[in-house]
Amino acid sequence: MSERTQATKRSSEDAIVEAHAIYTPLSLSFYDFAVHGLSNRFVWMCPTSKIFGLYVRHLSPSHLEAAVGTGLFLDRAGRSFDRLVLLDINMNCLDFSARRLRRFDPECHEVNLLAPIGLAVPPFDSVSLTYVLHCLPGPISEKLVVVDHLKPLMADRAVLFGATILGRAVNPNGPARALFRLYNEKGVFNNLEDDLASLTEGLERRFTHVEIEQHGLVAIFHAR
Ligand SMILES: C[S@@+](CC[C@H](N)C(=O)[O-])C[C@H]1O[C@@H](n2cnc3c(N)ncnc32)[C@H](O)[C@@H]1O
Repeated sequence: MSERTQATKRSSEDAIVEAHAIYTPLSLSFYDFAVHGLSNRFVWMCPTSKIFGLYVRHLSPSHLEAAVGTGLFLDRAGRSFDRLVLLDINMNCLDFSARRLRRFDPECHEVNLLAPIGLAVPPFDSVSLTYVLHCLPGPISEKLVVVDHLKPLMADRAVLFGATILGRAVNPNGPARALFRLYNEKGVFNNLEDDLASLTEGLERRFTHVEIEQHGLVAIFHAR
C-alpha cells in the first residue's frame, strides 16, 4: 500500500471514529434533552413530533434500528415488537438503549454501517436510519452506501425511514450556523455538503417509492 493510500485510509478511519466518539455515558444522559428537546425546535427548526410521526407510521413488529443512540423513539412510540434489533458502532449507545428498551428484549450488534453488515438474520419489515447520515463522513453519494448495506436486511415490502440534518442549500439561523461550524470542525457532523437534491436522488436510485419532506433543516424520508 502506498504512503498516500495508507494516509487516506487512516484519515477516513479517524473520521468514522470522530463521528461517534462524543457518545459517552455522560453525554447520552442529556442527549435526548439537548437534541430532541432543544435543538430540534430552536436550532434545526423541526419539531421532534415530526420524527415521532415517522416512527408511529412506519414501525413494524419486526424492526431494525440502525444507529440507535439512546433509543428514545422506540421507547416512546407506544409499539411492541416481536423482534427488535439495534445496531450501532458505539457500545455506549448499545448499552444505554438496550437498558432502556429491555422490555422488548432487543438484540444488539456493534456495527459500522459504512462497512458491509455481516448479519445472518431473517429480513425485517421496517428499518430506521435517524440522525446518522449527517454524522457520517463523505458526500451523500458515499454515505448512502449504508443503505446498500441495510437493503439485504429488508424484506420485499419493507420500509426504510429516517431523518437527517441538511447543511447545504438551507437557511440556518445563527445558533445553527454556530453549531454547524463547531460540530463539523470536530467531526461530529459531516453535513456541509448534504442537500435535499442529492439525498432524494440517492434514495430514488435505490427504491421504487420514495417520499421526502424538509422541515426546517431536517429531511424526513421513507422509502420502499
Ligand atoms: C446523532 S446520534 C442519533 C441517534 C438516534 N438515532 C437519534 O435519532 O437520536 C448518531 C448515532 O449514530 C451512531 N453512529 C455514528 N457513526 C456510525 C457508524 N459508522 N455506524 C453505525 N453507527 C454510527 C452513533 O454512535 C450514534 O448512536
